[in-house]
Amino acid sequence: MALFESGSPALEKLLLSQLSRQKIKQFVGYYAQPYKELMAYYRCAMMSVETKFNVLNEELSLQYDRNPIETVKTRLKTPESVLEKTSRKGFPLTVDSIEENINDIAGVRVITSFVSDIYTLTDAFLKQDDIRLIEKKDYIKEPKSNGYRSLHLIVEIPIFLHNEKKTMKVEVQFRTTAMDWWATVEHKLRYKKDYGISEQMERELYECAEIGADLDRRMEELRKSAEEYISWN
Ligand code: GTP
Ligand code: MG
Repeated sequence: MALFESGSPALEKLLLSQLSRQKIKQFVGYYAQPYKELMAYYRCAMMSVETKFNVLNEELSLQYDRNPIETVKTRLKTPESVLEKTSRKGFPLTVDSIEENINDIAGVRVITSFVSDIYTLTDAFLKQDDIRLIEKKDYIKEPKSNGYRSLHLIVEIPIFLHNEKKTMKVEVQFRTTAMDWWATVEHKLRYKKDYGISEQMERELYECAEIGADLDRRMEELRKSAEEYISWN
């Protein structure tokens, strides 16, 4: 079983980066099957987390009379990206080391309309007794210097296989639609350009992030007003 299609452009890119052809050949030769198994476990963990949010959405929609979640997206890191990150961070290229050191192989992104929904969902999710919090980064309360906003969690969740229980790490990112729109565009502008972006563009992007945050605040006020209006009428 090959991890990469031979002649794939992604592999070429990887080979030209930090990893030597010899190291990749060794990794694929020794670890193809265990790597495939590990990725299957991450997919299971990701499905469990996704289901938890679908359940919370269903239940909270009865309470609020609206769905707190707009969308739940999942993604598994590509082998190219896993190997590139493991090598860049200086960790050994083995399946055990990947499992131990790379926290964001399984990713779940939860998109909401309102900032308050992010905190309601985070609390409800972290209260569940099979979820163990490893790391929390609140870039909504403390945005990154470029303006990036999102709430990130690294959690551990158990998966039950036919003869064992395994605990897997999943990264969960919570964003409003405004935060997600900004981050998606910023990512396209920044990461797809080998030559980077100018200081002027950095400033523009920062301002756009601030405008997005202001829109989120105004929408939150509108939500409160709408709820008050409904309760008075
Ligand atoms: P790495 O996971 O090693 O990259 O570092 P970290 O764990 O310190 O990362 P952090 O939790 O800050 O961010 C993890 C993920 O959030 C990234 O892989 C992106 O998906 C997203 N992210 C973080 N910062 C930015 C940003 O400035 N712009 C965009 N578009 N996405 C970001
Ligand atoms: Mg990370």
